Amino acid sequence: MKVRDMDVNSPLVVVLGTGGTIAGTGAGPDDVSYRAAQLSVEQLLQAVPGLAGLALETRQVAQIDSKDMDWSVWQALADQLQEVLARNDVGAVVITHGTDTLEETAYLLHRLLDVHKPVVLTAAMRAATSAQADGPRNLRDAVRVAEHAAAQGWAGVVAVMAGVIWPGHAVRKSHTWHIDDAFDGGGDVPLGRITDSGTILEGMPWPSPGRGGWSCLEPGGVPPRVEIVTSHAGADGRLVEALLTQGQQLGHAVGGLVVASTGHGTIHQALTRALEKAELQGIRVWRSSRVARGGVLSREGDHWPAAGTLTAAQARVALMLDLLGVPCGGMKD
Ligand code: SIN
Repeated sequence: MKVRDMDVNSPLVVVLGTGGTIAGTGAGPDDVSYRAAQLSVEQLLQAVPGLAGLALETRQVAQIDSKDMDWSVWQALADQLQEVLARNDVGAVVITHGTDTLEETAYLLHRLLDVHKPVVLTAAMRAATSAQADGPRNLRDAVRVAEHAAAQGWAGVVAVMAGVIWPGHAVRKSHTWHIDDAFDGGGDVPLGRITDSGTILEGMPWPSPGRGGWSCLEPGGVPPRVEIVTSHAGADGRLVEALLTQGQQLGHAVGGLVVASTGHGTIHQALTRALEKAELQGIRVWRSSRVARGGVLSREGDHWPAAGTLTAAQARVALMLDLLGVPCGGMKD
């Protein structure tokens, strides 16, 4: 941890590093094969000239490729966030993250945040050593947005990518390799934009922070097991049967299943039968869609709840939190 160039007039921004391509390095500027999570968050900030003179503090919470995100890293992140957001001298937090699971972390933090301060996630589609590195600009933008939001008294979780501010509950990766439109809001519009020169153009009001629930992520707690199954041509439900059997054998039974359903929440009849059997065993079933936009909206008479516009991965987080009873006072088994 290092405090850089404190300016007593601006709110302190704490930058939490978790790894990702933004901290990735390759053999050269054209190298498309690189390793994520190689540079420290302090090194990332040093590479951004526009941040000199700002009140920044850094903490390395994790150093992972975000495809490997898990409950223990979320717990560590939640611990650090809780601690720094409670400090009077901290105005906002920026989190550097991988793009691959950013939508899950952003949604989780949106649901758990109960502190009225801004939390800004950012990432990059190209490694720090790439000739096309987008990390420095994204990091500069994220810090500027965090400072600006803190000064305005705005609160909530947002993601800043390619000059766009997305609401944390809706942001999702929408392209596997583009830089400029790698993320979108799944139908939600941007909250604002940042020009190339760093000017913030305000748009929509920020989403309200969630109702809290940090205690649900207490270290050592075992998270409820929620799996995602996809409905597709030939989906026969055997995967669901195998999950139930294996969960019982491992002693960590499946508590919930999110179906990445076809279209607006439809499910193959054979998979439906397997899910009905799972439900009889007390397993909660939610429906999301495997279609990129629109989600599954609730309709009267729905047998299984619809996950709205959440992606399947976000719906999994939502169902985990639901099983934990968020906001809650402790872990459930
Ligand atoms: C990751 O998600 O950590 C790797 C990929 C990326 O950040 O774009």
